[in-house]
Amino acid sequence: MKILITGANGQLGLELQKQLATSSEELQVVSTDYLDLDITSLNQVKAKLLYVKPDVVINCAAHTAVDKCEEDIENAYKINAIGPKNLAIACDMIGAKLVQVSTDYVFNGDVPGARREDDVTGPQSIYGTSKLLGEEYVKTFCKKHFIIRTAWLYGEGNNFVRTMLKLAETNKELNVVGDQFGSPTSTVDLAKAIIDLMQTEYYGTFHGTCEGECSWYDFACKIFEIRGIDIKVNKVTSEQFVRPAKRPKFSVLDNFMLRLYGLNSFRNWEEALKEYLA
Ligand SMILES: NC(=O)c1ccc[n+]([C@@H]2O[C@H](COP(=O)([O-])OP(=O)(O)OC[C@H]3O[C@@H](n4cnc5c(N)ncnc54)[C@H](OP(=O)(O)O)[C@@H]3O)[C@@H](O)[C@H]2O)c1
Repeated sequence: MKILITGANGQLGLELQKQLATSSEELQVVSTDYLDLDITSLNQVKAKLLYVKPDVVINCAAHTAVDKCEEDIENAYKINAIGPKNLAIACDMIGAKLVQVSTDYVFNGDVPGARREDDVTGPQSIYGTSKLLGEEYVKTFCKKHFIIRTAWLYGEGNNFVRTMLKLAETNKELNVVGDQFGSPTSTVDLAKAIIDLMQTEYYGTFHGTCEGECSWYDFACKIFEIRGIDIKVNKVTSEQFVRPAKRPKFSVLDNFMLRLYGLNSFRNWEEALKEYLA
């Protein structure tokens, strides 16, 4: 099986490369990032896919700077919506499967409880609306698609865990939002789920996050507890900690579809975090 990864130098792309390299399966991996393959160019995407002829394309490329997307609207839509559309068109043309990674921010998140794959979406930010349009294009233009929505992702790269550890080096006290709830997810668990899923024909939309839930405040406290860092963490509200992009208050995802197929191997978020920080 030949697999092409886009955005391969990002957090998820790096973990996928690592796991695929040690996989026992007969897998051939072609890793690309912005410089080798700009997913916003249909010509480049078509030419690359016609040349490589992958069986599966995993799209890890995205504009993930949620606040920046609010002002960088055109690029957000180019990368998060037109990019996946180009990949969907080209994958369909060569009969390849497409794995599109999406986000909990496609939901409005005003109501408590875990969201299932068929729950009504209602993004509140440019990042969320552009990712949702990307999902719709993938569904429209590629028959053999998997959309996997994840959340609060951390791995090799910039993420909340690293931001907290960095801030702790220079601060004795931190303010962290305590009224937004989600499921911190390790790229290790997500990459494994994607590798399992891409080898099936269970096409459609999936939720893929670590089990359990917490607020950003709980997440920060757990990071410091595991690392034994003595720091005062103040729980603040979203209203006290205003950001350019509005975030959903409740964006816990239920891995309902993965469970139905017997493919939900995600660990509890605290267990995965301990391994990451070890
Ligand atoms: N991070 C999270 O908390 C989170 C939460 C929910 C869902 N997700 C989704 O999970 C997926 C993976 O996220 P991640 O955290 O691994 O992202 P990431 O670390 O930001 O990596 C994204 C990669 O895409 C590349 N890229 C940007 N524009 C591109 C283009 N036009 N063509 C090709 N590559 C391009 C980036 O390159 P440059 O660095 O050079 O720009 C970067 O290597 C994304 O679909 C994201 O929306 C992430």
